Amino acid sequence: MNTAADPQSSSDSSSDAQPLAERVENRSQRPSSSAFKEFMASQWAPASTDVAGLDASAPFAAQRRSALSAIFPEDRLVIPAGPLKVRSNDTDYRFRPHSAFAHLTGLGLDHEPEAVLVLEPVAAGTGDSGSNHVATLYFRPMAGRDSEEFYSNSRTGEFWIGRRPTLEEFQARLGLPTLHMDLHLEDAITKDAGPKEFGGKRIRLMRDVDLTCDALVDTSRINTNVDLEESDGFDAQLAEAVSELRLIKDEWEVEQMRSAVEATINGFHSVVKALPRAVEHKRGERVVETAFFAHAREEGNDLGYDTIAASGNNATVLHWIRNNGQVNTGDLILVDAGVEADSLYTADVTRTLPVNGTFSEVQRRVYQAVLDAADAAFAVAKPGAKFRDVHAAAVKVLAENLDQWGLLPVSLEVALSEEGQHHRRWMPHGTSHHLGLDVHDCAQAKKELYLDGVIQPGMIFTIEPGLYFKADDLAVPEEYRGIGVRIEDDVLITEDGNINLSESLPRSPDDVEKWMRGLLQP
Ligand code: GLY
Ligand code: MN
Ligand code: MN
Repeated sequence: MNTAADPQSSSDSSSDAQPLAERVENRSQRPSSSAFKEFMASQWAPASTDVAGLDASAPFAAQRRSALSAIFPEDRLVIPAGPLKVRSNDTDYRFRPHSAFAHLTGLGLDHEPEAVLVLEPVAAGTGDSGSNHVATLYFRPMAGRDSEEFYSNSRTGEFWIGRRPTLEEFQARLGLPTLHMDLHLEDAITKDAGPKEFGGKRIRLMRDVDLTCDALVDTSRINTNVDLEESDGFDAQLAEAVSELRLIKDEWEVEQMRSAVEATINGFHSVVKALPRAVEHKRGERVVETAFFAHAREEGNDLGYDTIAASGNNATVLHWIRNNGQVNTGDLILVDAGVEADSLYTADVTRTLPVNGTFSEVQRRVYQAVLDAADAAFAVAKPGAKFRDVHAAAVKVLAENLDQWGLLPVSLEVALSEEGQHHRRWMPHGTSHHLGLDVHDCAQAKKELYLDGVIQPGMIFTIEPGLYFKADDLAVPEEYRGIGVRIEDDVLITEDGNINLSESLPRSPDDVEKWMRGLLQP
């Protein structure tokens, strides 16, 4: 007999019994009678059959797919959206598709867990828009109200999570054929696959996005004697290509970035207004963080990344996202935050504000040096310059200021040499990164096209110099300790220069003080 006093017997009996995976149902009291099932399937008003027109993003997504098609004309390209991710036990994070999937479909919001875009190669020039591929979107459409899934599946059922797209809706919105993934995806990915030298179709997969797709492709490769190591290389080339495709933003993407930046600027206004309450609160940084978060959810899809709300010495911690510190009057607060639009494009903006609305003399000195560094970077961020020149321009100005303040342990010339770089102690991060669907966009691009690449019209990147003097940094006089300043703007490269997309958010110390006064005065 199994008793609580007999742990051995208890554990034996437990492992023989119900599989762990099924136990999530143990708290379910859902009726299972046929009467209940029939009643649940009946008496719903007919679902709307209205089908929307083409999404504004669809023609741009089609052009992106054509560009990718030209790079890999003969190969099957598999781009998953990714599955839902568990946050805790049976509770998932809100879904966000992989950025490559969003880019190549034009879909945003939470579309669509487990979906997969497949670009099937066809005879050269006979595919979509004269390309070499025909694209199809595979996903699990909304289950009918006559199905048990409708009311019983808490991850996919309409009763639980609301309306989801039908095959017809996505087909009309994206201008793409759509098929039910449960019925067609496996075949679409694996049919005729095999070593190219024996007439098989080569698959290139965006790996590590959806483990089910990885397993499907791996199994197919093993079963058809495809060289696995070589295939890894082919997959990596696809990841590189989709990343590089995003280095230049199209017109629709620029519009999305403008709207993400605008919502972000609105969020910074709320940040300033929240400062008096932040000072009163024992976790004032959280007050600031959540003031911004309201904008991210009200105006956009979410935050593009976790907000950094870092007051006092916390501003010298580059990725301070714990945000549980106090906000003290007399200190600076560094706020690095970005709204992600519904299209999933994100802004990435930083302002460093005097909590009481007025910079002290030393705070202003440090702030002005960082601003001058940013302006120097803006001056070189033009078509034809190298991406790395932007950083070089910014850090040179920072080094000059540090030298003037007597903080460099060597001459300016030695510090600026490759063997020196002493100034980087106080600015150890890069000045710029590409920005778009990912806050650190285009991260798989080749170095020749990124750091060593030439700046071109349509690029969008950040300019974000900073200076960070930690409270325990004995290499600087006491007056600098505990001061961290970063100014970050989002720049669009034009034919003959650049546009600071976040320019309307005050940057100069005088403008910041005036702006804060305007918002804080009763
Ligand atoms: N917020 C992250 C970054 O500025 O790169
Ligand atoms: Mn940034
Ligand atoms: Mn940032």
